[in-house]
Amino acid sequence: MPEPTLGFWAKLKRPILALAPMANVTDAAFRRMFSELGKPDVFWTEFVSIEGLLSRGREKLLPDLWFGEDEHPIVAQVFSGKPEQFERIGPFIKELGFDGIDINMGCPDSGIERSGAGAELINDPVRAKEIVRAAKLGAGDLPVSIKTRIGYGKNEIERWVPALLEEMPAVLTVHLRTRDEMSQVPAHWDKASLIVELRNEISPKTLIIGNGDAPDAETARRLASESGLDGVMIGRGAFGNPWLFSGRKPDLHERLERLMEHVELFERIYKSDRPDRIKNFDVMKKHFKAYVAGFDEAKELRVKLMETKNAADVRRVVTDFLHR
Ligand SMILES: Cc1cc2nc3c(=O)[nH]c(=O)nc-3n(C[C@H](O)[C@H](O)[C@H](O)COP(=O)(O)O)c2cc1C
Repeated sequence: MPEPTLGFWAKLKRPILALAPMANVTDAAFRRMFSELGKPDVFWTEFVSIEGLLSRGREKLLPDLWFGEDEHPIVAQVFSGKPEQFERIGPFIKELGFDGIDINMGCPDSGIERSGAGAELINDPVRAKEIVRAAKLGAGDLPVSIKTRIGYGKNEIERWVPALLEEMPAVLTVHLRTRDEMSQVPAHWDKASLIVELRNEISPKTLIIGNGDAPDAETARRLASESGLDGVMIGRGAFGNPWLFSGRKPDLHERLERLMEHVELFERIYKSDRPDRIKNFDVMKKHFKAYVAGFDEAKELRVKLMETKNAADVRRVVTDFLHR
């Protein structure tokens, strides 16, 4: 029986704890903070359009694929609705040094869905399967994984998950909500064991990673063992919390010091006089609330931080606060 190409995935201990792909959140600066303070077992990039990577505008998208040498293993997440584009992008992802390539089949963004990509693929399993086959052809010896949801308008695990497993991806990550549920209802962890059973029947070597609402590494390990999953992926629990995988709970002073380091790193990596290197500073604001919480005057400090425009502003505001 043919088997999936597992690549680095075969060497990881279970449960595998992964840092989720999150556009404008899990960028190279944020991942560098994790590699210093407590690494996940695997990193993902933010998602990137293959159409864009194959166009003349490629340079603009490349910053989303930057990573540091301490961020291995790292998987590049890409999206497209066109199988042939997956085949074409594989060699490029490999050349950039990634350890794996991940297909986004869960994004509910209407623009992305209109191009036949993201969660729209849940409605078109025939094309979804072609995409996996094409991605595998292009990827060569790089493992191909998929990140999806349990259905589009309703739970469709029994129709959708087997279709994907038949193509034998290395890993199937399932965000345990439907597309229409977005992130607005609790994740359906009670459905995880059914996905594991389907895997056991259809593609026993494929790894299954569950995702949705896991707030910390301890809960993630418990969820994995309760459902027989190979791993759990954490998304929003990671905002402003690069200690997530270390299990440490740093004091306020350390949190604020690291916040300043994170902002400065972001600026060093993404801001320069080259327009193709720029990411908007507002990206950092998603993290402020998490770094700055749980103490008297947190709200006051956050309000001041939300008005900052660069790393120097943040350093001034935080230093004033620490010396008040
Ligand atoms: C700001 C933000 C950006 C996201 N970007 C991506 C993305 O680029 N690719 C992807 O597959 N999922 C993306 N997601 C979904 C997450 O990877 C994850 O599936 C979802 O947040 C549920 O996990 P959580 O409850 O642990 O946050 C994003 C989520 C958020 C909140």
